[in-house]
Amino acid sequence: MDGLRRLEYRGYDSAGVALPVGGELYVEKRAGKLGNLDKALAENNGEPAHLAATVGIGHTRWATHGGPTDRNAHPHSSADGRIAVIHNGIIENFAVLRARLEAEGVEFASDTDTEVVAHLLSAEVAAGASLSEAMHRVVRRLTGAFTLLAVHADDPDTVVGARRNSPLVVGRGDGEYWLASDVAAFLSFTREAVELGQDQVVTIGRDGFAVTDFSGEPAKATPYTVDWDAAAAEKGGYDHFMLKEIDEQPAAVADTLRGRVTETGEIALDEVRLSDQDLRDADKVFIVACGTSYHAGLVAKYAIEHWTRLPCEVELASEFRYRDPVLDRSTLVIVISQSGETMDTIMALRHAKEQKARVLAISNTVGSTIPRESDAVLYTRAGLEVAVASTKAFLTQLVACYLVGLHLAQIRGVKYADEVAAVLEQLAAMPAKISTVLDQMDPVRELARSLAGQHPVLFIGRHVGYPVALEGALKLKELAYLHAEGFAAGELKHGPISLIEEGTPVVVIVPSPRGRGVLHDKVVSNIQEVKARGALVIAVAEEGDTAVAPYADHIVHVPVVPTLLAPLLTAVPLQVFACEVARGLGLEIDQPRNLAKSVTVE
Ligand code: F6R
Repeated sequence: MDGLRRLEYRGYDSAGVALPVGGELYVEKRAGKLGNLDKALAENNGEPAHLAATVGIGHTRWATHGGPTDRNAHPHSSADGRIAVIHNGIIENFAVLRARLEAEGVEFASDTDTEVVAHLLSAEVAAGASLSEAMHRVVRRLTGAFTLLAVHADDPDTVVGARRNSPLVVGRGDGEYWLASDVAAFLSFTREAVELGQDQVVTIGRDGFAVTDFSGEPAKATPYTVDWDAAAAEKGGYDHFMLKEIDEQPAAVADTLRGRVTETGEIALDEVRLSDQDLRDADKVFIVACGTSYHAGLVAKYAIEHWTRLPCEVELASEFRYRDPVLDRSTLVIVISQSGETMDTIMALRHAKEQKARVLAISNTVGSTIPRESDAVLYTRAGLEVAVASTKAFLTQLVACYLVGLHLAQIRGVKYADEVAAVLEQLAAMPAKISTVLDQMDPVRELARSLAGQHPVLFIGRHVGYPVALEGALKLKELAYLHAEGFAAGELKHGPISLIEEGTPVVVIVPSPRGRGVLHDKVVSNIQEVKARGALVIAVAEEGDTAVAPYADHIVHVPVVPTLLAPLLTAVPLQVFACEVARGLGLEIDQPRNLAKSVTVE
């Protein structure tokens, strides 16, 4: 329980434990915070048999498949209740595996992807395999990302773990071992850890542990000593959650894409319950959201209109509801909300439903109000975002918006089929490109420190660079309490340019010189305009773009990607910049003043 408590910050919609004892499996699980599980366990103290267990597994959940209920809480058990499994990650091929198991007569007790593993392990054990052998066979059949741990009622001294694309560490004590997705779980017991490599299985028993690859051959895992204290460990060694969350973006984007583009390049959105016909019937799209989520919606407008030729309007939820928008049953309303609980967005969604519009939610929180009340939902898989200022949720919202746009384009017939195919290919490469950007952030941090406290700071961009400029300004406002504004670069000369004085920092999101090259040239002209008035120009430009160099005081390069996907890269230096300015000013990064993570009032 102490270990679970230390990991609760990662997600807490349900929790559970399983312990083999006296030839049986003791399983307890509860929806809600860890306290609910604690209470359930305490109630069982009258029957303390489970306290005699020498091994056990436990889990706190942040739902990806299936709502946050008791039945969807982990551990999941085989039908005979002899094997229990916990899982982090996403099993991409679970639907196929589940269908096969159901055809063989297996009855499922949850809506999770995880439960297939319990049934598959059970079948292997029934065929004579040990739990460890069974795990080796089962993981070879899984695709996606997983950290799995399993226990068996008949094997009260053994825990078997496996990992692919998701972390697993072993903690080594004196005659005792821990397995966890993060060292934070066991730091109060030991600092000696062994990190499992990709595609490895670990079997822990009374006499030690063995690490093998998925085919069962002995494999090398890396031992190390953890030098963080417990508080630092929760933040993965970072000073602030926001810094950690910025660095988690490549993984969050990869998770949001996982399993959603088939090998033949079709978009597969299993949770989008609207029929293809509903989506074909749509003649107009509204995107409604607040704050950062609204900025993701603004980017989506460029993508959706271009790929689908459907008219798409984007509106702040707090405005949409009260201006009597024209909606009917052929309007598709996309509501975007990380928390799924933003009251302004909930009211807009209810209004859209009253007008008979079809509502598709994009949310990071399974089972929250907005997905529950919508006709359909596509979940971002950013994991829990602790810092109030949104970073990884924003990038995954962009990915979800692209997926919806591409899906609409594919089922409605596309004008730019080649372009859509190219974008799909490029999406898969985005996590690596975001990592490249993150690896080059030292000069941005240095620049932020040198400018800390200076304001106003202006952010300008065109096309998809415009919402990125708005987002960059919002990040700086909320984190550093500085006056920052984002403008469409072409609008500057219609008023805001008068703000510029000698040395005013202007951050410019420069479009690619390829493709819509005309936009690039216009932005270069805008740079010259602000430069001529004394601005300090910080350009975020594509690698190899030499045209901005003569006018920019600082250039941050990002890898080459299709224009519409560029916000996934250009937003990142702006997040780092805002965070570092706030750090330079000694401000509270994770909880800026006056703000709440979930805004549940109108
Ligand atoms: C800014 C930020 C907020 C939220 C907004 C909507 O960093 O986090 O602007 O984006 O309050 O919240 P959700 O997406 O939960 O509806």
